Amino acid sequence: MHNTPLSGISADALNALLDDAFGADRHMRTAYLLRKGMVAINHLSFGILDEGELVASIQCWPVRVDKAELILVGPVAVATHRQNEGLGTQLMQLMLNAVTPQDAPMVMIGDPEYYGRFGFEAEGTSGWTLPGPWEPRRLLLRNSEMVALPTHGMLGPND
Ligand SMILES: CC(C)(COP(=O)(O)OP(=O)(O)OC[C@H]1O[C@@H](n2cnc3c(N)ncnc32)[C@H](O)[C@@H]1OP(=O)(O)O)[C@@H](O)C(=O)NCCC(=O)NCCS
Repeated sequence: MHNTPLSGISADALNALLDDAFGADRHMRTAYLLRKGMVAINHLSFGILDEGELVASIQCWPVRVDKAELILVGPVAVATHRQNEGLGTQLMQLMLNAVTPQDAPMVMIGDPEYYGRFGFEAEGTSGWTLPGPWEPRRLLLRNSEMVALPTHGMLGPND
């Protein structure tokens, strides 16, 4: 099993993994609207290969809230037949280890019961608006450098 920058993985293999983890209707998700038209951030996007099979992936995207830059984390995907083996944890650690001091705070839509262990929490996001439906408790922020961020504002692509 080994890690690789996601830029080296074929679009077909990535799409098959994402369809498996999230379902083929995944493009309707609010997270897709949030980063519409953006290119994934290369140094924070990884795949895990096992004997040539892509079994897990993480992607990060440039977004903003009002005028403040953020990094959108996700999708975080683990193949359904490989879940609960620690691959999701491995992906999150790979990504967090690759963060540089220049990188913006991170936002994601996910379960706080899982992502809390990686420093993501809903605190600070309750005044933010998204371009589609969302559950406030699942809009999570990781702002380890305590960057000043708007308390209110629209989240969207950083274009
Ligand atoms: C969520 C996901 C990324 C977790 O990765 P994983 O490799 O299966 O999980 P890990 O092996 O790292 O961690 C397993 C632990 O996390 C817990 N866990 C997994 N998903 C969880 C969730 N959504 N909420 C709470 N706990 C969760 C498991 O119960 C397990 O707990 P334990 O260690 O106490 O037994 C993966 O299951 C997945 O791709 N799911 C489908 C897509 C998805 O929902 N992605 C997240 C939104 S971006």
